[in-house]
Amino acid sequence: MAASLFSSDLLSPEVQAALPEGYVLRALRRDDHASGFLDCLRVLTTVGDVTEEGFQQQFDTMEKQGGYYLIVIEDTSLTESPVVATGALIVERKFIHNLGAVGHIEDIAVARNQQGKKLGLRLIQALDFVADKVGCYKSILDCSEANEGFYIKCGFRRAGLQMAHYY
Ligand code: ACO
Repeated sequence: MAASLFSSDLLSPEVQAALPEGYVLRALRRDDHASGFLDCLRVLTTVGDVTEEGFQQQFDTMEKQGGYYLIVIEDTSLTESPVVATGALIVERKFIHNLGAVGHIEDIAVARNQQGKKLGLRLIQALDFVADKVGCYKSILDCSEANEGFYIKCGFRRAGLQMAHYY
């Protein structure tokens, strides 16, 4: 079992250099249960009561399965809960497009008191870097109308229509 979900070779040096001073970009780690990561996700939606054991089991499943790139930004000036932003890229392998791969951008969240510092933009740039490096020909995501402007600023454009079955 690895301590980090993916190799640091996939972390963009340009994005790291563009972060505010004292902020660090890194892969999610197996010991991130109480680092602020789950609190970031609570800005986005319900997380529930995730135990440390449950967290580690899910981390191990993702690591074993492969194709999960969860990234975090830490504010190293904070001694407690230093993780202040997170985002994920999940890579789907295809037969089309010459055995291509599509990146799915998911669960982008910046702690409320850290929003507006370009951390969201840096997360997307960091995930774009991973997607390109692992061979994705595109990345796609779903978002609310309220967040469309943010993704346009990140270089995305509206494409297609989402349909859903809920179980
Ligand atoms: N609408 C329009 N523009 C926006 C919005 C928005 N909702 N949010 C940010 N922007 C603009 C900023 O003004 C900035 O523009 P500028 O370059 O002209 O100054 C640019 O987008 C980059 O903004 P950041 O500072 O990087 O944004 P931030 O760090 O606050 O992160 C985010 C944005 C991720 C939407 C954050 O507000 C957040 O965590 N919200 C709650 C959770 C959420 O809704 N996440 C997205 C779910 S969709 C998904 O996960 C696929």
